[in-house]
Amino acid sequence: MEPSFKPYDNPERLTIIEQIEPDIDIPDGDPARGERIFKAVCTSCHQLDTNGFLGPRLRDVFERKIASVRGFSYSPSMTTKRSGYWTKKRLYLYLKNPEAMFPETTMYFEGIKDPYDRASVVEYLIFLKSTVNKNNTKPNPRPNS
Ligand code: HEC
Repeated sequence: MEPSFKPYDNPERLTIIEQIEPDIDIPDGDPARGERIFKAVCTSCHQLDTNGFLGPRLRDVFERKIASVRGFSYSPSMTTKRSGYWTKKRLYLYLKNPEAMFPETTMYFEGIKDPYDRASVVEYLIFLKSTVNKNNTKPNPRPNS
């Protein structure tokens, strides 16, 4: 399961991210393991191609603008910070402890503490992005203005 979508194709964007976020090591994850974890803990709130009652759709979340899916009501905590994109590093930091990044987020999820497990879920999200067109997910929407 080799993701065909390459993160950080845009070196300029990588530079900006490095400037504003801590330098952390993200271990190599296993997307197959990530898929198992995703199905066990994320699908109670999230679906891949449609917004669930509880969470926004996630197939195209990698490199999608933060809090940008139309038709989903995000918490103000997320919308005020939505100017950025979901990079690999941000997903990794968010999934460690969602509340640390967005203090009043409505994603009531304690986080995945194990770095390898967390990196594996992130790898799975990156892999999912490469499947967007094959599954007829609606194109990435423009952020609400
Ligand atoms: C208890 C329900 C729940 C669980 C479990 C949950 N989420 Fe969420 N998730 C949410 C909600 C609600 C939001 C929107 C949060 C907000 O608006 O503050 C969200 C938002 C997100 C976002 C940001 C999406 C965007 O459009 O900006 C990502 C990424 C995400 N979740 C990934 C995950 C992953 C991966 C898992 C499993 C490891 C997971 N979530 C588990 C409810 C959940």
